[in-house]
Amino acid sequence: MKRVIYPGTFDPVTNGHIDIVKRAVALFDEIIVTVAKNPTKTEVFSVEERVEMLTEVMKEFPTVRVDSFNGLVVDHARALGAIGIIRGLRAVSDFEYEFQMALMNRKLAEDISTILLMPHARYTYLNSTIVRNLAAFHGDVSGFVPEIVEAKLKEKFPKND
Ligand code: COA
Repeated sequence: MKRVIYPGTFDPVTNGHIDIVKRAVALFDEIIVTVAKNPTKTEVFSVEERVEMLTEVMKEFPTVRVDSFNGLVVDHARALGAIGIIRGLRAVSDFEYEFQMALMNRKLAEDISTILLMPHARYTYLNSTIVRNLAAFHGDVSGFVPEIVEAKLKEKFPKND
């Protein structure tokens, strides 16, 4: 049983993240999408809300589970019996950060590998900050996030605010 975790902030989950999950589903037996609390980022959705949205979005993938954690990603991976950590690599600009994290995580846990997957080129410029900004100014996010996320963003940023 090859189980991997896909950690991230997912504030909110975007179509780019889903693209990565699809690729991971084709490669591994079980994927645990795990929401991290990132104290350095200002959050729009609580961890509970992010888990709820992800759970709904991931329903179409029977081998995907969603949870959350607070701590080191390698500790969580080990507790779940995961053999690897999935991360998305959109552009060269992601590489240095991902490389540093991968090497640090390897130092912390030699037996857990980082697997970098490239999403479709159409998601190269996409990130959650852009989606949050667009939504805050009532821009159209429909091409970037699933419908349920679009609806939740509209609730967070009502037109009359
Ligand atoms: N498509 C679209 N956007 C994507 C994407 C994809 N395929 N992959 C990543 N992104 C975006 C995210 O939306 C996010 O955007 P934002 O910064 O505008 O919100 C950004 O890229 C990167 O965020 P994310 O993938 O959520 O990772 P992160 O940098 O917030 O890190 C953890 C999350 C959990 C991996 C990291 O904080 C961590 O490991 N924390 C635990 C502490 C730890 O173990 N530290 C030791 C490791 S050095």
